[in-house]
Amino acid sequence: MTERLGRALFRPDAFHGMMERTVPFPPIQRKRVWNSSRPSHSATAYTGTAPNPSPQTSCTRSSRQAESVALYPEIAVRWHIAWEGATVTRALRGQIGISRVLNAPHYLIALSKERPGYMEHLGFRMEQLILAATQAGLGTCWLGRALNEASVRPLVPDIAAGEHIVALTPLGYADGSQTARIVEGILRWGANGVEEQKPLPEIASHYIWTVPWTGEDGDMTRVLEQVQRAPSWCNTQPWHFVVDERWVIATVDHPPRRGNVREGKAYYRLDGGIAMCHFHLAVRARGWQGTWMVPEEAEIKMLRDRYATPETHDVLGIYPVQRT
Ligand SMILES: Cc1cc2nc3c(=O)[nH]c(=O)nc-3n(C[C@H](O)[C@H](O)[C@H](O)COP(=O)(O)O)c2cc1C
Repeated sequence: MTERLGRALFRPDAFHGMMERTVPFPPIQRKRVWNSSRPSHSATAYTGTAPNPSPQTSCTRSSRQAESVALYPEIAVRWHIAWEGATVTRALRGQIGISRVLNAPHYLIALSKERPGYMEHLGFRMEQLILAATQAGLGTCWLGRALNEASVRPLVPDIAAGEHIVALTPLGYADGSQTARIVEGILRWGANGVEEQKPLPEIASHYIWTVPWTGEDGDMTRVLEQVQRAPSWCNTQPWHFVVDERWVIATVDHPPRRGNVREGKAYYRLDGGIAMCHFHLAVRARGWQGTWMVPEEAEIKMLRDRYATPETHDVLGIYPVQRT
């Protein structure tokens, strides 16, 4: 891809040959996520009632029919639904940072082998399922970095050599009762210092890294606002996008923060994949075209030079935006 990316960056006519990773997009309407001003992504308490219809029809259908868009089509993600949520709840009990999502009737567990790019790939795909579940009226909460994998592993059958549980989410009806809201308030208070939503100039640049996003481009601002709403571990929001005339570059901040690197695993890249998912869905929701492409080493260097991207940030993808 290097030669074509180079040509396309500098010569617009090479653009069209680059849509190689386009996969049909699932017909998900993200009502709750896209229409409210600050959607709450994470359901902190569950009623325990099993959803009807079952989440299999709403949430996992997209993965079974291979409809969800991939960043790395060659990396397999395995989805396992633990229908007996109580077993997962027991396995998670007592783990720091997990207390707020117990009592869910089901859990969706995501497994992958460790391959270059597997974290952002899994984040990108799983967020599509999470948004599908949200659309179906289910509560979810990403559980990744704080997860003690060893405690949940025995609950997943046939784990292959080298396969890891990367993340999971409860699936069930969110408990909106007053008691649940009080508990949530206490837990949020306990998480004092968890970062607020970052303003757009902090998470996006225009043309070059050093120029913060000004908001003059109203259509793209609407898209970036959906990136702003993406969930992340401890709300660290490690992403930063550079928006050029026709390209958008996605990066994530890699110096460890709030424990987002554990056992050498880069959980911040999971967050990066989630933000890239929000970007992609927001682009498609506007009727624009485009798809994320994963640059190779030489291309990353080219992009770093061109957009003055600092070494503190990993470059995850480049997105040619076709506005219609
Ligand atoms: C990859 C990832 C891992 C997360 N892991 C946990 C976790 O282990 N425990 C937890 O309580 N919340 C976890 N969260 C939820 C975040 O803390 C939450 O999304 C963030 O604080 C923003 O809050 P909101 O989703 O309610 O908007 C995780 C989120 C992401 C994206």
